[in-house]
Amino acid sequence: MSKEQRINFSSKLAVVAAAAGSAVGLGNIWRFPYELGQYGGAAFLIIYVLFVVLLGMPIMLSEFIIGRMGQRDAVGSFRKLAPKGKWWIIGVMGVLTSFLIMGFYSVVAGWTMEYVFQAVTNQFVNKDTATLTQVFVNFSTDTWRPIIWLTIFMVISAGIIMLGVKDGIEKSTKFLMPLLVVIIVALGIRAITLPGGAAGLKFLFQPDFSKITSGVVLSAMGQAFFSLSLGMGCMITYGSYISKKNHLSHTVVEVTMLDTLVSILAAVAIFPAVFSLGINPGFGPELVFITLPNVFAQMPGGYIWSILFFILLCVAALTSVISLMEVIVAYLVEEFKMKRKTANGLV
Ligand code: ALA
Repeated sequence: MSKEQRINFSSKLAVVAAAAGSAVGLGNIWRFPYELGQYGGAAFLIIYVLFVVLLGMPIMLSEFIIGRMGQRDAVGSFRKLAPKGKWWIIGVMGVLTSFLIMGFYSVVAGWTMEYVFQAVTNQFVNKDTATLTQVFVNFSTDTWRPIIWLTIFMVISAGIIMLGVKDGIEKSTKFLMPLLVVIIVALGIRAITLPGGAAGLKFLFQPDFSKITSGVVLSAMGQAFFSLSLGMGCMITYGSYISKKNHLSHTVVEVTMLDTLVSILAAVAIFPAVFSLGINPGFGPELVFITLPNVFAQMPGGYIWSILFFILLCVAALTSVISLMEVIVAYLVEEFKMKRKTANGLV
C-alpha cells in the first residue's frame, strides 16, 4: 500500500481508543490481579509501575514512531527505515510474538464467553469453591466446549478486522473502551463498599518489600511489556495508522495511564471482595474463573455484577485480540500482497 493510500485513524480519540484497546485486555483484568495476589500485593504494584514509566513509555513511543515513520506493517516499517540493516528481524519477532500470544490468549478469551453464559444463566449460586473448581476443570479440559467458544470468539474478532481499520477497529474500540471503563469503575465501587473489604485495599496499597525477589522483579517487567502490548508489533502497526497531526507523546501518556488505571481498578474490584469473603489472594491463574464466581455467589446483587464482570473481561479480550490479529493481517497483506480477506481467514 503506498504512503498516499494508507488509512489513518480519524481522530485523537480513535487513536487512544484503539491503542488502549490493544493494551487493556486479559493482561489487566485476569493476569495482573493473579500476579499481584501471588507476589505479595503493593510491593509488586510499585515495581510494576516503575517498569511502566521507565521502560514501557519510552518503548511505546519508539514503536509508534517506527510505525508512523515507516507507514507500513511491523516488518515493512523496519525495512523502510533501515533498508540495509537487519532490523526487520525485530519486526518478524513481533509478528511471531503476536501469533504465539494469540494461541493461548484466544483460548482464555473463549473461556470468558463461557463465563458470560454461566453468569447469565445464574450458574454460580449455591456453589462452594470446591464445586466451582470442579466446574472450571471440567469445562477447561472438555474437548469441544472450549473449542466452540474459541471459534465464536475468533469469528467475531475476524469479522471486526475484516471491516478494516476505520469501520472495524476504530468504531468497535470507540464504543467498547468507554463501556469497559464504566463497568470496571462500577465494580470497583461495589467491591470497596463490601464489609471487610478494607483488608483487600491494605494488601493492594501497603507494601511489604520482604516479598520481593529477582523473580518477582522479572515478572513485573514481563507484565509491563505484556500489558502495554510491547514487542508484539501492535504499537508499530497501530502507529502506522496514526496521522502526522497526532502528538505521539501525549498518546503514549494517555494510553499508559489508562492501561495502568484499569489494572489497578481491576485489582480494586477483586481484592476487597476476595478478602471480604476470606479467600486466598494467591490463588493463581484461576483467580477470576473460580474465586470470583464464588465471590459473586455470596455477594448481594452478585447475579448482575457477575454478568457485568465477565462481559468486561470479554470486551477487554476482544479489543486486544483485534490488535494482535491486525499485526499479522497487515504483515500478510503488505509483505505478501495477500487480500485482506484471505489474510484474515488464514490467521
Ligand atoms: N496488552 C494485552 C493485554 O494486556 C495483550 O491483555
